[in-house]
Amino acid sequence: MFEYKVNNDISLRLSNVQDAEEVFKVIDSSRNHLKRWLTWVDLVKSANDCKYKAYKAMHQYASNNGFQCNVIYRGKIVGRLGTHNIDWSEKSTSLGYWLAENYQGRGIMTMCCKSFLAIIFNELKLNVVYVYVAEKNTKSRAIPERLHFEQKGINKNALILSGANIDYVRYVMTRERYFQYY
Ligand SMILES: CC(C)(COP(=O)(O)OP(=O)(O)OC[C@H]1O[C@@H](n2cnc3c(N)ncnc32)[C@H](O)[C@@H]1OP(=O)(O)O)[C@@H](O)C(=O)NCCC(=O)NCCS
Repeated sequence: MFEYKVNNDISLRLSNVQDAEEVFKVIDSSRNHLKRWLTWVDLVKSANDCKYKAYKAMHQYASNNGFQCNVIYRGKIVGRLGTHNIDWSEKSTSLGYWLAENYQGRGIMTMCCKSFLAIIFNELKLNVVYVYVAEKNTKSRAIPERLHFEQKGINKNALILSGANIDYVRYVMTRERYFQYY
């Protein structure tokens, strides 16, 4: 899978070094929006930082330890969606995602996550997918909720973001539940 077509407008392109300049511009133009919920944004200071992330992502993919994709909407990179590392003993992974501010509200990330679930359960044959979301991040929480994940537990003080302790909600999609809904 190097480019996966989600629909006529949207595709998922496996993370690669050639995209790094464009990815940097997208992050740079949405910094304040992204920083609200993501810890790494201030660490991305140049396209080289995105190149480094792309190399790491290629290594992750080559090691059969999950994958990262740039989200393409009508030919432009508008965000990113990836799995964290795979726990092969539990056959599980978790998802991370973001979209440029101006591309919210069109269902792009929900549709991409749905495609990711199909790849994860049908091709990688994993058993469980988690999404961890800050309790107050309602836009992000709406994605696993729309896709029929089950909410299971809250991790209190899971992260410090902008100096504040953040509680995280854990969403779970098991293989069994996935095939009940899809
Ligand atoms: C989290 C984030 C990706 C959500 O973006 P989003 O645009 O709300 O999500 P989607 O692309 O799935 O779009 C859903 C929206 O499009 C609408 N929509 C339109 N067509 C749709 C379709 N076919 N399917 C689903 N939703 C659709 C939905 O109603 C919803 O709009 P609403 O919030 O006004 O109800 C984005 O807010 C973001 O990047 N935030 C900052 C980073 C972040 O928080 N990352 C997650 C960390 S856990």
